[in-house]
Amino acid sequence: MRRRAIASVLVLILLATASFAQKKDALDSEGHAWWQHAVFYEIYPRSFADSNNDGIGDLPGITSKLDYLRWLGVDAIWIAPMFPSPEVDWGYDVSDYFNVNPDYGTLADMDKLVATGKQRNIRVLLDFVLTYTSDQNPWFQESRSSRTNPKREWFIWRDGKDASQPEKTPPTNWTSLFGGSAWRFDAATGQWYYHYFYPPQPNLNWRNPEVEKAMFDVTRWWYKRGIAGFRLDAVDVMFVDSQFRDNPVVGTEKNALGDPVEREIYDKNQPELHGVLQRLRKVADENNAVLIGETWTSDIAQLKRYYGEHNDEVQMPMDFMFTTINKLSPPEFRHQIDWIEGSGEWPVWVLSNHDIRRVYDRYGDGQHNDQIAKLMASLYLTLRGTAVMYYGEEIGMEQNDPKRPEDVKDSQGRLGWPKEKGRDGERTPMQWTDSTNAGFSTVAPWLPVDDRYKTYNVESEKKDPESILNYYQKLLTLRHTNPALLEGKYIALNESDPNVLAFVRSYKGENVLVVLNMSSSGQTIKPELTQNAIAAKEGKTLLSSFNAREEMNTNEMTIPPFGAWIGELK
Ligand code: GLC
Ligand code: CA
Repeated sequence: MRRRAIASVLVLILLATASFAQKKDALDSEGHAWWQHAVFYEIYPRSFADSNNDGIGDLPGITSKLDYLRWLGVDAIWIAPMFPSPEVDWGYDVSDYFNVNPDYGTLADMDKLVATGKQRNIRVLLDFVLTYTSDQNPWFQESRSSRTNPKREWFIWRDGKDASQPEKTPPTNWTSLFGGSAWRFDAATGQWYYHYFYPPQPNLNWRNPEVEKAMFDVTRWWYKRGIAGFRLDAVDVMFVDSQFRDNPVVGTEKNALGDPVEREIYDKNQPELHGVLQRLRKVADENNAVLIGETWTSDIAQLKRYYGEHNDEVQMPMDFMFTTINKLSPPEFRHQIDWIEGSGEWPVWVLSNHDIRRVYDRYGDGQHNDQIAKLMASLYLTLRGTAVMYYGEEIGMEQNDPKRPEDVKDSQGRLGWPKEKGRDGERTPMQWTDSTNAGFSTVAPWLPVDDRYKTYNVESEKKDPESILNYYQKLLTLRHTNPALLEGKYIALNESDPNVLAFVRSYKGENVLVVLNMSSSGQTIKPELTQNAIAAKEGKTLLSSFNAREEMNTNEMTIPPFGAWIGELK
């Protein structure tokens, strides 16, 4: 009797743990996973919140702001690299994948961040720098130590092209994104190693199965700690041509860094990378995790490849083509939206990040920037798909480029000064209050705070009902609660209008109309509803960036300059 009781308890425990291990997040009635309706938010850890006042943001700082993010409506954060790093490229040169940079805290701080996030329903994603390591990473240190070291083949080593002067002739003509040859000669062993980015960022050799295993294990290790997924860095340059052929050179002009212009057919987008992504996805699926791709593409066919033929690669390849539309152009946005809508994939929208100029001035005209910030938010946060925000956009943080070369922290800015000021301008400290250093820290932060922080900060904007911040907060609430915005299909309206971008999101008879005036003058538009078989007498305002009436006549609508209107059709 007793033995049977013990046995059944054991079975119960076994069942419980088995179901726990395999527990997948439930899909909604439309078959959508949690991340499809989530709002992601990128945090640049050095600049978000500083808990110990050393001028550098850190993990406890992020933890202390999770309540703010919950209030705002953020469901998941992606933290740019927070691993130990010599900071040649601000974290994108990882010297240890299994630890936290002491500037940012400890593994215990990371565990606490994850646990606190869990209580608030905010998942934590990390940045997986998988294409290359730091030259200070022990793997590379071993690899460079001798030609016979077991880790030699973990990186890409080659002899010089010309045997009579090997140290003067790189193996191919490939150039580094940051200028010069992508090969560096290492005198100790008399061979060249390959680096697509800075020389201290040697590329891993993904053709070596040991590399794949080691790197997949990195993800498993973090999944066990509760990490909900990864943003995959620089996946397009993970592989180079196995035959090491030269890229064709285009014309005789040099690029901004003084290098020949090449068609990057042998050092980029090699087909083998998709095999890795499929296998990495399997590991992610086993851990109920999501992968976001840093997927720079120039057309939709390329972007589509990253989803995988059977939706078995990256769940969230970011659509960067959207970010290259640098003007308020309804036709261009419409085209990009139609493109991805027509592809049958789940779109992933981004306006800016730590590599792209801040959206506030990219679209701003210098006079109506606040309205334009609300307009752009109303565009990408009402489209079908998942959105990835960048910290600070919700308060209207602007580009804050360094003023003197000696202040530049990003090597790209040092190399390109004064033409190219680098990316410090989009990485400045988050503005929390109107007190010293915007409440980021009591000492001078690692990058200067934007002068406008007295007005543009979380605390002050929270109190102002008309602020950009309150607009974002309302917009995110709407996005999370309105069924048409959550699930609805996208229907483009008035497709030849050059000034106003209008569309409907439609779900089970519920229709939300979005009207965005992208011009500097008032516009009157007659939304083509009946033409699209949408019956409506009027529109109930859900959110607008101007003083709209509660009920709007949707036969003919007048929208002020840069105005945004979102309403429910009745
Ligand atoms: C990725 C990162 C960027 C970095 C580059 C090279 O593109 O987003 O910040 O400079 O990799 O390391
Ligand atoms: Ca700190």
